Amino acid sequence: MAREFGTVGVVGLGTMGAGIAEVFARAGLGVVGVEADKAALARGRDHMRTSLDRAVSRGRATEAERDEALGRVRFTGSLDDLRDADLVVEAIPEIMDLKSALFADLDRICGPGTVLATNTSSLSVTAIAATTTRPGRVVGMHFFNPAPVMRLVEVVGTVVTEDGLTGAVAALARRLGRTPVTVGDRAGFVVNRLLLAYLNHAATLLELGVASQDGIDVAMRQGAGLPMGPFALLDLIGLDTSAEICEVLFQETRDRVHAPAPILRELVAGGLLGRKSGKGFAARREAGTGAVP
Ligand code: 3HC
Repeated sequence: MAREFGTVGVVGLGTMGAGIAEVFARAGLGVVGVEADKAALARGRDHMRTSLDRAVSRGRATEAERDEALGRVRFTGSLDDLRDADLVVEAIPEIMDLKSALFADLDRICGPGTVLATNTSSLSVTAIAATTTRPGRVVGMHFFNPAPVMRLVEVVGTVVTEDGLTGAVAALARRLGRTPVTVGDRAGFVVNRLLLAYLNHAATLLELGVASQDGIDVAMRQGAGLPMGPFALLDLIGLDTSAEICEVLFQETRDRVHAPAPILRELVAGGLLGRKSGKGFAARREAGTGAVP
């Protein structure tokens, strides 16, 4: 299916949504970025600006490229401005009721040819598609954090996706300078299914006292060549998001390996959510509970 994506919408300009909007804008697409209120819109714009400034300071973009990218994004509080978008990517919180309500609105507002995509990390794309009158034109487009840096996009097709659509979305991902991998609609797809099992297991090893938090982080960085240790990565992803993904994986598979480690639940209950709340495993380490033995 030859499909041209010229204008895209991004709904939700939190860390992921702002990063996704930046990726589209830097690739030359017109972007409509939607957030619920003025404060959230301002945060999304600031996030994008900071990230682009960083790219300029690292020599990865010129000031003109930064300004052009920002100029391609129209920030708005109204979903109605998505009427003429060729593609809309949803990046709102991982709450099925919120997503269903949003997709019902998008289905009503957008033209029949608009492709609706979700950046969900673990919810069922099929279930989200089923809330619309165009389930064949709803796919998953799963970016990774930090979106401006990570090269992978998981393109999720479902049993009802129109022929050729995952191929067209994969071609778009390539145009963004990303590497698409087409995956089926199973909880966690590929990356989160494997990655969260590992991160959860790291938390279990910590609870078992096999090594300290720093010890496990250092071991995985220097012994497995990973850019970040598991606790630093849990802080980046967000402990609440991580625990939620584990819970969804556990519900779908009933495999105990996915049952969220008690320490993850405990930190989430205590409001230690990682970078987004300013405190997570890193704060635990600073408090002296994670030192190498
Ligand atoms: N926004 C924009 N650019 C960023 C950035 C951000 N938030 N963070 C880092 N960068 C850029 C830097 O500017 C730098 O660019 P340069 O090489 O051109 O100068 C480059 O990325 C490397 O950054 P740093 O030198 O500051 O730091 P690191 O080398 O430690 O890299 C990292 C940071 C890219 C985050 C790296 O540690 C990494 O790859 N970590 C693993 C991340 C990961 O696994 N993400 C997936 C999480 S799972 C997920 O997202 C799925 C979801 O559903 C939960």
